[in-house]
Amino acid sequence: MKLFFHRLIPIAALLAAMGAFACSPYTYQPIRSGENWPDDRGEHINAHGGGILVHDGTFYWYGEHKSENTSRALVGVTCYSSKDLVNWKYEGVALSVSDDPESEITRGCVLERPKVIFNRKTGKYVMWFHLELKGKGYSAARSGVAVSDSPAGPFTYLGSDRVNPGIMAENVTEKDLAYFDALPETPKEWTPEWLTAVSKGLFFKRDFEGGQMARDMTLFVDDDGKAYHIYASEENMTLNIAELSDDYLSHSGRYVRVAPAGQNEAPAIFKRNGTYWMITSGCTGWAPNAARLFSAPSIFGPWKQHPNPCRGDQSEITYGGQSTYILPVPGKKDLFIFMADIWRPRHPIDARYIWLPIQFDADGTPYLEWMDTWNIKEYCIYFRKMRKKKLD
Ligand code: GAL
Repeated sequence: MKLFFHRLIPIAALLAAMGAFACSPYTYQPIRSGENWPDDRGEHINAHGGGILVHDGTFYWYGEHKSENTSRALVGVTCYSSKDLVNWKYEGVALSVSDDPESEITRGCVLERPKVIFNRKTGKYVMWFHLELKGKGYSAARSGVAVSDSPAGPFTYLGSDRVNPGIMAENVTEKDLAYFDALPETPKEWTPEWLTAVSKGLFFKRDFEGGQMARDMTLFVDDDGKAYHIYASEENMTLNIAELSDDYLSHSGRYVRVAPAGQNEAPAIFKRNGTYWMITSGCTGWAPNAARLFSAPSIFGPWKQHPNPCRGDQSEITYGGQSTYILPVPGKKDLFIFMADIWRPRHPIDARYIWLPIQFDADGTPYLEWMDTWNIKEYCIYFRKMRKKKLD
Protein backbone atom coordinates (compact mmCIF):
# COMPACT_ATOMS: atom_id res chain seq x y z
CA MET A 1 0.00 0.00 0.00
CA LYS A 2 2.77 2.37 1.05
CA LEU A 3 4.63 1.53 -2.14
CA PHE A 4 1.52 2.26 -4.17
CA PHE A 5 1.22 5.77 -2.72
CA HIS A 6 4.89 6.42 -3.25
CA ARG A 7 4.41 5.70 -6.92
CA LEU A 8 1.16 7.60 -7.16
CA ILE A 9 2.31 10.86 -5.62
CA PRO A 10 5.03 11.65 -8.19
CA ILE A 11 2.67 10.72 -11.02
CA ALA A 12 -0.02 13.00 -9.58
CA ALA A 13 2.52 15.79 -9.10
CA LEU A 14 3.73 15.37 -12.66
CA LEU A 15 0.19 15.47 -14.03
CA ALA A 16 -0.62 18.57 -11.96
CA ALA A 17 2.55 20.29 -13.19
CA MET A 18 1.75 19.38 -16.79
CA GLY A 19 -1.67 20.84 -16.33
CA ALA A 20 -0.33 23.98 -14.72
CA PHE A 21 2.20 24.59 -17.45
CA ALA A 22 0.09 23.48 -20.37
CA CYS A 23 -2.06 26.51 -19.82
CA SER A 24 -3.49 28.62 -17.04
CA PRO A 25 -4.68 26.28 -14.25
CA TYR A 26 -7.88 28.30 -14.12
CA THR A 27 -8.98 26.98 -17.48
CA TYR A 28 -9.81 23.73 -15.70
CA GLN A 29 -12.80 25.42 -14.15
CA PRO A 30 -15.99 24.33 -15.83
CA ILE A 31 -18.64 26.67 -17.19
CA ARG A 32 -21.79 26.31 -15.15
CA SER A 33 -24.72 27.95 -16.87
CA GLY A 34 -27.38 29.45 -14.67
CA GLU A 35 -25.17 29.75 -11.58
CA ASN A 36 -23.53 32.67 -9.88
CA TRP A 37 -20.44 33.75 -11.85
CA PRO A 38 -18.05 35.66 -9.59
CA ASP A 39 -15.54 38.10 -11.10
CA ASP A 40 -12.07 38.81 -9.67
CA ARG A 41 -13.71 40.71 -6.80
CA GLY A 42 -16.04 37.84 -5.96
CA GLU A 43 -19.08 39.71 -7.32
CA HIS A 44 -21.53 38.13 -9.76
CA ILE A 45 -20.69 39.38 -13.26
CA ASN A 46 -22.96 42.25 -14.16
CA ALA A 47 -22.87 42.37 -17.99
CA HIS A 48 -26.26 41.34 -19.34
CA GLY A 49 -27.49 41.25 -22.93
CA GLY A 50 -23.80 41.33 -23.72
CA GLY A 51 -21.26 40.37 -26.31
CA ILE A 52 -17.57 39.59 -26.50
CA LEU A 53 -14.73 41.23 -28.41
CA VAL A 54 -11.57 39.16 -28.88
CA HIS A 55 -8.55 41.38 -29.19
CA ASP A 56 -4.82 40.56 -28.95
CA GLY A 57 -5.46 37.30 -27.09
CA THR A 58 -7.82 38.85 -24.55
CA PHE A 59 -11.57 38.50 -24.35
CA TYR A 60 -13.55 41.62 -23.45
CA TRP A 61 -17.10 41.05 -22.30
CA TYR A 62 -19.41 44.07 -22.49
CA GLY A 63 -22.94 44.12 -21.15
CA GLU A 64 -25.72 46.00 -19.44
CA HIS A 65 -25.15 46.82 -15.80
CA LYS A 66 -28.36 45.84 -13.99
CA SER A 67 -29.46 47.14 -10.60
CA GLU A 68 -31.33 45.56 -7.67
CA ASN A 69 -34.78 46.81 -8.57
CA THR A 70 -34.78 48.14 -12.12
CA SER A 71 -33.65 47.17 -15.58
CA ARG A 72 -33.23 50.81 -16.55
CA ALA A 73 -29.64 52.00 -16.93
CA LEU A 74 -28.41 53.53 -13.69
CA VAL A 75 -24.72 52.88 -14.39
CA GLY A 76 -24.07 52.06 -18.05
CA VAL A 77 -22.14 49.41 -19.96
CA THR A 78 -19.67 47.36 -17.96
CA CYS A 79 -16.56 45.62 -19.25
CA TYR A 80 -14.74 42.52 -18.01
CA SER A 81 -11.57 40.97 -19.43
CA SER A 82 -10.32 37.42 -19.46
CA LYS A 83 -7.58 35.30 -21.01
CA ASP A 84 -9.43 32.03 -20.63
CA LEU A 85 -13.18 32.77 -20.68
CA VAL A 86 -13.62 31.57 -17.10
CA ASN A 87 -11.70 34.09 -14.98
CA TRP A 88 -13.05 37.57 -15.47
CA LYS A 89 -11.45 40.77 -14.27
CA TYR A 90 -13.75 43.71 -13.74
CA GLU A 91 -12.49 46.52 -15.98
CA GLY A 92 -15.09 49.06 -14.84
CA VAL A 93 -17.77 51.03 -16.63
CA ALA A 94 -16.87 51.29 -20.32
CA LEU A 95 -19.73 53.67 -21.17
CA SER A 96 -21.30 55.65 -18.35
CA VAL A 97 -24.81 56.99 -18.34
CA SER A 98 -24.84 60.76 -18.01
CA ASP A 99 -25.75 62.94 -15.04
CA ASP A 100 -27.03 65.55 -17.47
CA PRO A 101 -30.85 65.27 -17.61
CA GLU A 102 -30.74 66.60 -21.19
CA SER A 103 -28.45 63.81 -22.40
CA GLU A 104 -29.98 61.03 -24.49
CA ILE A 105 -28.17 58.56 -22.24
CA THR A 106 -29.15 60.21 -18.98
CA ARG A 107 -29.34 57.93 -15.92
CA GLY A 108 -32.69 56.07 -16.08
CA CYS A 109 -32.76 55.60 -19.84
CA VAL A 110 -32.98 52.08 -21.29
CA LEU A 111 -29.61 51.05 -22.67
CA GLU A 112 -29.61 47.44 -23.84
CA ARG A 113 -27.61 44.77 -25.65
CA PRO A 114 -24.34 46.68 -26.15
CA LYS A 115 -21.82 45.12 -28.54
CA VAL A 116 -18.28 46.28 -29.33
CA ILE A 117 -16.21 45.73 -32.48
CA PHE A 118 -12.71 46.86 -33.39
CA ASN A 119 -12.11 48.84 -36.56
CA ARG A 120 -8.72 47.96 -38.06
CA LYS A 121 -8.64 50.99 -40.35
CA THR A 122 -9.23 53.59 -37.65
CA GLY A 123 -7.82 51.67 -34.67
CA LYS A 124 -10.98 52.55 -32.72
CA TYR A 125 -13.29 50.39 -30.62
CA VAL A 126 -16.89 51.01 -31.62
CA MET A 127 -19.90 50.24 -29.43
CA TRP A 128 -23.51 50.06 -30.64
CA PHE A 129 -26.51 49.55 -28.38
CA HIS A 130 -30.28 49.77 -28.22
CA LEU A 131 -31.37 53.05 -26.66
CA GLU A 132 -34.73 54.11 -25.29
CA LEU A 133 -35.07 57.67 -24.06
CA LYS A 134 -35.83 58.17 -20.39
CA GLY A 135 -39.52 58.24 -19.57
CA LYS A 136 -40.59 57.21 -23.08
CA GLY A 137 -41.03 53.47 -22.55
CA TYR A 138 -39.84 51.56 -25.59
CA SER A 139 -41.15 54.02 -28.17
CA ALA A 140 -37.89 55.65 -29.30
CA ALA A 141 -36.38 52.38 -30.65
CA ARG A 142 -33.05 54.01 -31.45
CA SER A 143 -29.50 52.80 -31.96
CA GLY A 144 -26.76 54.50 -29.98
CA VAL A 145 -23.09 54.55 -30.91
CA ALA A 146 -19.96 55.27 -28.84
CA VAL A 147 -16.23 55.11 -29.55
CA SER A 148 -13.02 54.55 -27.63
CA ASP A 149 -9.26 54.34 -28.15
CA SER A 150 -8.91 51.42 -25.76
CA PRO A 151 -11.02 48.28 -25.35
CA ALA A 152 -12.05 48.87 -21.75
CA GLY A 153 -13.03 52.45 -22.49
CA PRO A 154 -13.95 55.02 -21.47
CA PHE A 155 -16.21 55.18 -24.52
CA THR A 156 -17.39 58.56 -25.77
CA TYR A 157 -21.07 58.70 -26.68
CA LEU A 158 -21.55 60.00 -30.24
CA GLY A 159 -25.33 59.98 -30.59
CA SER A 160 -28.38 57.91 -31.44
CA ASP A 161 -30.97 57.66 -34.17
CA ARG A 162 -33.33 55.41 -36.01
CA VAL A 163 -31.69 53.57 -38.88
CA ASN A 164 -31.35 54.50 -42.56
CA PRO A 165 -33.97 57.29 -42.80
CA GLY A 166 -35.35 57.70 -46.31
CA ILE A 167 -33.37 54.73 -47.65
CA MET A 168 -35.05 51.78 -49.30
CA ALA A 169 -34.18 48.26 -48.14
CA GLU A 170 -32.63 46.17 -50.90
CA ASN A 171 -35.30 43.48 -50.79
CA VAL A 172 -38.43 45.64 -50.74
CA THR A 173 -40.39 45.81 -53.96
CA GLU A 174 -42.84 48.42 -55.17
CA LYS A 175 -45.38 45.59 -55.38
CA ASP A 176 -44.93 44.87 -51.65
CA LEU A 177 -45.46 48.51 -50.75
CA ALA A 178 -48.53 48.81 -52.94
CA TYR A 179 -50.13 45.79 -51.26
CA PHE A 180 -51.59 47.43 -48.20
CA ASP A 181 -52.29 50.70 -50.00
CA ALA A 182 -54.79 48.72 -52.05
CA LEU A 183 -56.57 47.44 -48.92
CA PRO A 184 -59.82 49.27 -48.11
CA GLU A 185 -58.65 49.79 -44.49
CA THR A 186 -55.82 48.69 -42.23
CA PRO A 187 -56.72 45.15 -41.12
CA LYS A 188 -57.36 44.41 -37.45
CA GLU A 189 -54.15 43.64 -35.56
CA TRP A 190 -52.97 40.04 -35.42
CA THR A 191 -55.36 38.86 -38.13
CA PRO A 192 -53.75 36.96 -41.04
CA GLU A 193 -54.48 40.01 -43.25
CA TRP A 194 -52.67 42.30 -40.83
CA LEU A 195 -49.67 39.95 -40.64
CA THR A 196 -49.52 39.92 -44.44
CA ALA A 197 -49.69 43.72 -44.50
CA VAL A 198 -46.88 43.92 -41.91
CA SER A 199 -44.79 41.49 -43.91
CA LYS A 200 -45.33 43.60 -47.04
CA GLY A 201 -44.03 46.67 -45.18
CA LEU A 202 -46.87 48.33 -43.23
CA PHE A 203 -44.50 49.59 -40.49
CA PHE A 204 -41.55 49.78 -42.83
CA LYS A 205 -43.39 52.33 -44.96
CA ARG A 206 -44.72 54.19 -41.91
CA ASP A 207 -41.16 54.65 -40.59
CA PHE A 208 -39.44 55.16 -43.93
CA GLU A 209 -38.81 58.91 -43.69
CA GLY A 210 -37.80 58.97 -40.02
CA GLY A 211 -35.72 55.79 -40.14
CA GLN A 212 -36.41 52.23 -39.13
CA MET A 213 -36.95 51.23 -35.50
CA ALA A 214 -34.07 49.31 -33.91
CA ARG A 215 -34.38 47.45 -30.61
CA ASP A 216 -32.70 44.10 -29.70
CA MET A 217 -29.44 44.00 -31.63
CA THR A 218 -26.08 42.48 -32.31
CA LEU A 219 -23.06 43.28 -34.47
CA PHE A 220 -21.19 41.00 -36.83
CA VAL A 221 -17.83 41.57 -38.54
CA ASP A 222 -17.37 39.50 -41.67
CA ASP A 223 -14.09 38.07 -42.97
CA ASP A 224 -13.66 41.03 -45.32
CA GLY A 225 -13.84 43.50 -42.41
CA LYS A 226 -17.34 44.73 -43.27
CA ALA A 227 -19.54 45.06 -40.20
CA TYR A 228 -23.28 44.57 -39.89
CA HIS A 229 -25.89 45.77 -37.42
CA ILE A 230 -28.68 43.24 -36.95
CA TYR A 231 -31.71 44.48 -35.05
CA ALA A 232 -35.39 43.93 -34.32
CA SER A 233 -37.30 46.53 -36.31
CA GLU A 234 -40.87 47.40 -37.28
CA GLU A 235 -42.39 47.07 -33.77
CA ASN A 236 -40.26 43.91 -33.27
CA MET A 237 -42.08 42.25 -36.16
CA THR A 238 -39.19 42.13 -38.65
CA LEU A 239 -35.40 41.91 -38.40
CA ASN A 240 -33.12 44.20 -40.39
CA ILE A 241 -29.53 43.51 -41.35
CA ALA A 242 -27.77 46.79 -42.11
CA GLU A 243 -24.20 47.26 -43.27
CA LEU A 244 -22.11 49.77 -41.29
CA SER A 245 -19.90 52.41 -42.89
CA ASP A 246 -16.16 51.71 -43.23
CA ASP A 247 -15.42 53.39 -39.88
CA TYR A 248 -18.32 51.46 -38.27
CA LEU A 249 -19.73 54.72 -36.87
CA SER A 250 -22.80 54.96 -39.10
CA HIS A 251 -24.84 52.92 -41.56
CA SER A 252 -23.76 52.61 -45.19
CA GLY A 253 -27.35 52.58 -46.49
CA ARG A 254 -27.31 48.95 -47.63
CA TYR A 255 -29.79 46.83 -45.70
CA VAL A 256 -32.36 44.06 -45.98
CA ARG A 257 -35.51 43.04 -44.13
CA VAL A 258 -35.35 39.50 -42.74
CA ALA A 259 -38.21 37.22 -41.66
CA PRO A 260 -40.92 39.88 -42.18
CA ALA A 261 -43.72 39.66 -39.59
CA GLY A 262 -41.84 36.76 -37.96
CA GLN A 263 -41.48 38.54 -34.57
CA ASN A 264 -37.84 37.82 -33.86
CA GLU A 265 -35.75 39.38 -31.12
CA ALA A 266 -32.35 38.81 -29.51
CA PRO A 267 -30.40 38.06 -32.73
CA ALA A 268 -27.04 36.27 -32.43
CA ILE A 269 -25.07 35.32 -35.52
CA PHE A 270 -22.05 33.37 -36.68
CA LYS A 271 -20.53 32.10 -39.90
CA ARG A 272 -19.24 28.59 -40.49
CA ASN A 273 -17.93 27.12 -43.74
CA GLY A 274 -19.37 30.02 -45.70
CA THR A 275 -22.89 29.74 -44.24
CA TYR A 276 -24.33 32.45 -41.99
CA TRP A 277 -26.32 31.13 -39.04
CA MET A 278 -28.56 33.21 -36.83
CA ILE A 279 -30.31 32.26 -33.59
CA THR A 280 -33.11 34.50 -32.34
CA SER A 281 -35.93 34.38 -29.81
CA GLY A 282 -39.62 35.13 -30.07
CA CYS A 283 -41.07 38.25 -28.43
CA THR A 284 -42.26 37.53 -24.88
CA GLY A 285 -40.40 40.26 -22.97
CA TRP A 286 -38.27 38.92 -20.13
CA ALA A 287 -40.00 35.51 -20.23
CA PRO A 288 -38.14 32.82 -22.17
CA ASN A 289 -39.54 31.23 -25.31
CA ALA A 290 -38.37 28.87 -28.04
CA ALA A 291 -35.27 29.85 -29.99
CA ARG A 292 -35.38 30.09 -33.77
CA LEU A 293 -32.64 29.20 -36.23
CA PHE A 294 -32.00 30.75 -39.65
CA SER A 295 -29.32 30.26 -42.28
CA ALA A 296 -28.23 32.11 -45.41
CA PRO A 297 -25.54 31.78 -48.06
CA SER A 298 -24.88 35.54 -47.85
CA ILE A 299 -25.36 38.07 -45.05
CA PHE A 300 -28.06 39.75 -47.14
CA GLY A 301 -29.91 36.48 -47.59
CA PRO A 302 -32.02 34.82 -48.65
CA TRP A 303 -32.53 33.67 -45.04
CA LYS A 304 -34.23 30.36 -44.48
CA GLN A 305 -35.81 29.26 -41.18
CA HIS A 306 -35.01 25.87 -39.58
CA PRO A 307 -36.60 24.13 -36.59
CA ASN A 308 -35.77 25.19 -33.01
CA PRO A 309 -32.03 24.49 -32.55
CA CYS A 310 -32.47 23.51 -28.86
CA ARG A 311 -32.86 19.85 -27.90
CA GLY A 312 -33.86 18.04 -24.74
CA ASP A 313 -35.58 19.25 -21.57
CA GLN A 314 -36.72 22.86 -21.62
CA SER A 315 -35.78 23.23 -25.27
CA GLU A 316 -39.14 24.97 -25.80
CA ILE A 317 -37.94 27.81 -23.53
CA THR A 318 -34.24 27.85 -24.51
CA TYR A 319 -33.43 26.35 -21.07
CA GLY A 320 -34.85 29.52 -19.49
CA GLY A 321 -32.66 31.92 -21.45
CA GLN A 322 -32.71 34.35 -24.38
CA SER A 323 -29.90 34.58 -26.91
CA THR A 324 -27.50 37.51 -26.85
CA TYR A 325 -24.30 36.56 -28.71
CA ILE A 326 -22.41 33.76 -30.39
CA LEU A 327 -18.67 33.77 -29.82
CA PRO A 328 -16.43 31.99 -32.33
CA VAL A 329 -13.41 31.02 -30.22
CA PRO A 330 -10.36 32.03 -32.27
CA GLY A 331 -7.88 29.36 -33.20
CA LYS A 332 -10.34 26.65 -32.26
CA LYS A 333 -12.17 25.61 -35.38
CA ASP A 334 -15.78 24.81 -34.61
CA LEU A 335 -15.96 26.13 -31.08
CA PHE A 336 -18.83 28.61 -31.13
CA ILE A 337 -20.22 29.56 -27.74
CA PHE A 338 -23.92 30.32 -27.59
CA MET A 339 -24.47 33.03 -24.97
CA ALA A 340 -27.89 33.75 -23.47
CA ASP A 341 -29.41 35.61 -20.53
CA ILE A 342 -31.69 34.15 -17.90
CA TRP A 343 -33.52 37.34 -16.96
CA ARG A 344 -34.71 38.05 -13.43
CA PRO A 345 -36.97 41.06 -13.96
CA ARG A 346 -37.86 41.31 -10.25
CA HIS A 347 -34.21 41.28 -9.24
CA PRO A 348 -32.38 42.24 -12.43
CA ILE A 349 -28.86 42.28 -10.93
CA ASP A 350 -29.19 38.55 -10.25
CA ALA A 351 -29.91 37.63 -13.88
CA ARG A 352 -27.81 34.62 -14.93
CA TYR A 353 -25.94 33.47 -18.00
CA ILE A 354 -26.14 30.44 -20.23
CA TRP A 355 -23.07 29.54 -22.24
CA LEU A 356 -23.21 26.37 -24.31
CA PRO A 357 -20.96 25.08 -27.08
CA ILE A 358 -22.85 24.88 -30.37
CA GLN A 359 -22.89 21.35 -31.77
CA PHE A 360 -23.33 20.37 -35.39
CA ASP A 361 -25.32 17.67 -37.13
CA ALA A 362 -23.74 15.54 -39.84
CA ASP A 363 -25.15 17.99 -42.40
CA GLY A 364 -23.64 20.96 -40.53
CA THR A 365 -26.87 22.23 -38.95
CA PRO A 366 -26.18 23.73 -35.52
CA TYR A 367 -27.99 22.55 -32.40
CA LEU A 368 -27.82 23.06 -28.64
CA GLU A 369 -28.08 20.74 -25.69
CA TRP A 370 -28.13 21.77 -22.07
CA MET A 371 -24.98 20.94 -20.12
CA ASP A 372 -24.80 21.47 -16.36
CA THR A 373 -21.06 21.94 -16.75
CA TRP A 374 -18.57 21.82 -19.57
CA ASN A 375 -14.90 22.52 -19.69
CA ILE A 376 -13.08 24.71 -22.15
CA LYS A 377 -9.58 23.70 -21.14
CA GLU A 378 -8.86 22.32 -24.58
CA TYR A 379 -9.20 25.77 -26.02
CA CYS A 380 -6.39 27.27 -23.96
CA ILE A 381 -3.85 26.08 -26.53
CA TYR A 382 -4.77 29.06 -28.66
CA PHE A 383 -3.97 31.46 -25.85
CA ARG A 384 -0.66 29.82 -25.10
CA LYS A 385 0.25 30.33 -28.75
CA MET A 386 -0.90 33.96 -28.68
CA ARG A 387 1.13 34.67 -25.54
CA LYS A 388 4.21 33.02 -27.06
CA LYS A 389 3.76 35.05 -30.24
CA LYS A 390 3.62 38.25 -28.18
CA LEU A 391 6.83 37.32 -26.29
CA ASP A 392 8.73 36.39 -29.47
C1 GAL B 1 -36.89 41.46 -24.23
C2 GAL B 1 -35.62 41.97 -24.88
C3 GAL B 1 -34.78 42.59 -23.81
C4 GAL B 1 -35.59 43.70 -23.17
C5 GAL B 1 -36.92 43.18 -22.66
C6 GAL B 1 -37.79 44.26 -22.10
O1 GAL B 1 -37.71 40.82 -25.14
O2 GAL B 1 -34.95 40.92 -25.50
O3 GAL B 1 -33.57 43.04 -24.33
O4 GAL B 1 -35.80 44.71 -24.11
O5 GAL B 1 -37.61 42.53 -23.70
O6 GAL B 1 -39.06 43.76 -21.78
